Amino acid sequence: MQNAKYPGTPFRVLALESSCDESAVAVLDREAGLLAHELYSQVDLHRIYGGVVPELASRDHVRRLLPLVEAALRSADTRPDELHGIAYTEGPGLIGALLTGAALARSLAYALRIPAIGVHHLEGHLLAPLLEPEAPPFPHVALLVSGGHTMLIEVLGIGAYRLLGQTRDDAAGEAFDKTAKLLGLPYPGGPALAQLAAQGRPGAFRFPRPMLDRPGLEFSFSGLKTAVLHALKQVEPTDAVRADVAWAVQDAIVETLVAKALRALDETAHQVLVVCGGVGANRALRERLAAAVADVGARVYYPRMEFCTDNAAMIAVAGLARLLAGQHADLAIRARAQWPLDSLPALTA
Ligand code: KG4
Ligand code: ZN
Repeated sequence: MQNAKYPGTPFRVLALESSCDESAVAVLDREAGLLAHELYSQVDLHRIYGGVVPELASRDHVRRLLPLVEAALRSADTRPDELHGIAYTEGPGLIGALLTGAALARSLAYALRIPAIGVHHLEGHLLAPLLEPEAPPFPHVALLVSGGHTMLIEVLGIGAYRLLGQTRDDAAGEAFDKTAKLLGLPYPGGPALAQLAAQGRPGAFRFPRPMLDRPGLEFSFSGLKTAVLHALKQVEPTDAVRADVAWAVQDAIVETLVAKALRALDETAHQVLVVCGGVGANRALRERLAAAVADVGARVYYPRMEFCTDNAAMIAVAGLARLLAGQHADLAIRARAQWPLDSLPALTA
């Protein structure tokens, strides 16, 4: 491992992601970059329940992960003995789902006699833009918006994260998903609601922007579903009305996210914003942010669309950085449902 610190030394990692309802595997090489990434989404499995069923998720990861490992190694043209380390998502996430990836990763690492590292899922999201040809410089502000989290984070470097603000209740993705459900849209609701919103008329409805008029960088989205429920009771919910409501929901969420992200740039005096997590795929958010950051002379960076949502390439980026810094753990198979991001060890290499 010591040699790995020196530039030019070959280093190739296999990465596994299984924190929720996506089974994913990637191979990343320190010099050649991303060699393969494979993903199986369980979305069809969970759709009839209207959300992720943890036990079903775990069982499906068990079925999917090993074939995905084989497929990723094949498409990366890599033999197992050509790997130098293994990264896997240790948390936060569904504990059973995490354990399937952790157990497989640790077992492979043990069999191959290479180090393994448990990666923080949110660090993966934060570092996903580093996979792009034009990577964001440090320091920057990250807006991490997913189904489980809505956070503004000051990113001083890899491993140096300062939480600036987060949601007090529902995450932005959760707000999309819950209001989508009220509109009768299929799970997962975010993309479906965004699609419906594209047909809506601006301004037909207006929903609250909680905490926007108060100082600070916290969010609160739980009131939105109540407001939508209330609005839907007052009207005949025709397709046109549902589209208008979807437009107004998206507008409320997007305007709040944009305003707080700009406030965070202003308060930290940073000029670079990174947007990551599943909601980062939202087109309206991207358009509004592009205009807003240009206005203040800042720049915004995203991972490519497929790396906004859960994937293993982002786990590989974080894992590779930490393994190269000499970090790895003992043989214990660990998974954590909760894991504060600012408790991560800093990167010293
Ligand atoms: O990061 P992610 O894949 O999983 C978590 O770690 O949570 O994010 C999933 C979330 C879901 O709430 C989904 O509805 C939302 O991201 N999402 C979107 C869009 N694409 C995914 N929300 C709004 N518009 C989209 N285009
Ligand atoms: Zn995620």
